[in-house]
Amino acid sequence: MILMTAGFVAIQNVAYGQSLAEDGHSHYVEHDTIVSHKLIFPSKTPDRVIANLTVDPAHSIAVNWRTNQQIDSGLVQIALATDGPEFLLKDLRKEKAVSQRFENQNSREPLVRATFHSAVISDLQPNTTYVYRVGNGMEDDGYWSEWHQITTAHADMDAPFSFIYFGDAQNSVKSLWSRVIRNSYRQFPDVNFMIHAGDLINDRDANMEWGEWFYAGSFIHATIPSIMTPGNHEYRDGILSSLWRPQFTLPENGPIAVLKETCYAIDYQNMKLISIDAEGFDENMEARVAQVKWLDSVLSNNTKKWTALTLHFPIFSTAKGRDNKELREALKPMMDKYKVDLVLQGHDHSYARGFAENEGKGITVVNGAGTIYAVSVSGPKMYESKDQDWMVRRGEYTQLFQIITVSKDTIKYGAYTPIGTLYDAFELVKKNGKKQLINKMPDTPTRLKKDFIREE
Ligand SMILES: [Fe+2]
Repeated sequence: MILMTAGFVAIQNVAYGQSLAEDGHSHYVEHDTIVSHKLIFPSKTPDRVIANLTVDPAHSIAVNWRTNQQIDSGLVQIALATDGPEFLLKDLRKEKAVSQRFENQNSREPLVRATFHSAVISDLQPNTTYVYRVGNGMEDDGYWSEWHQITTAHADMDAPFSFIYFGDAQNSVKSLWSRVIRNSYRQFPDVNFMIHAGDLINDRDANMEWGEWFYAGSFIHATIPSIMTPGNHEYRDGILSSLWRPQFTLPENGPIAVLKETCYAIDYQNMKLISIDAEGFDENMEARVAQVKWLDSVLSNNTKKWTALTLHFPIFSTAKGRDNKELREALKPMMDKYKVDLVLQGHDHSYARGFAENEGKGITVVNGAGTIYAVSVSGPKMYESKDQDWMVRRGEYTQLFQIITVSKDTIKYGAYTPIGTLYDAFELVKKNGKKQLINKMPDTPTRLKKDFIREE
């Protein structure tokens, strides 16, 4: 009993005066459980392994991971995937990572010191499955991830591919978002990549929250390449999360330095994928002007059959009073002029999908529907919405992921709940320069928050 009391006092003191453990990282009592310790602090063994799409996804992939600072360099080993472990019998291709020491301390969190490693593996073959692992490169005293399996894009422009789009994860990510990403992968394991439409976490530099995001996705992050656009919660006071660029490797082909890895374009087979940094647009006039000019140039030179744009703030909001008028006035004319197919958004914590000229009619087959706008949410924070003319389908209090399958003439879109219930669906058919929208939403009632929670 005396010992326990003494121990308690000692730990309490640690909580007020940060101490350093043997391997140099700090401890705070509220992060000293094994679970939170693992989520926050790196070790010699790689964690937070994630693959990102590059600008040439048929021939390269980007890989990032984290270790503690006792590891100061990193290596990726990669080989063609084989039926058994025979890929290990040949000389393995090795690529050295760019490794950077990094530390950050968010409010109410301990100081976290880490080394972030980033590598782009190029000269890969299209539509080919590889195995890779990341580590410190040592044979003896080696610290490695498991071997992950990953597949490159087709070189054939018209080969079908699919991707999953998530709205905001943001809150209770380990507790309540994990089942969304895990069941999206269980339902569609052959998906080629994933798009996160901003607000992946709630507090820009909270290492615990990023730890939860990586924990929730686990090996999926390393297996299915992803891209992400930042939301307002990846920013604070106009400054992007200090973890964004160390932990992801996203394209740097945007207009200005401040938008590197937040505003960019990727050609994935016959689709142009564009990320617009919506908070940059909102908070920084230079970033706004630069993005508008850049987007016009990217779209005017676009030779891809399909175009999808992701940004966090909706061009058409799901709720009145959350209107992004300046964003809409700046971007919608370009969506119309260049016939952008899909705009994938978040931020409003409810669901809606439709198009500008819907006029509340919700007709099944629409010729020349123009750009389809979707707003979705994957995490548990839920707001109410307001029925508006642009909406074909609306929903509240529903965690969703969207599977989007692209083939030569057709895009198929389905919005699913984590238990696999189809909540919304449509197809876009583009042939001979004409585009048709076919609405296929299920005949189920609109889910509304008031049906689940009675407001006081
Ligand atoms: Fe947001």
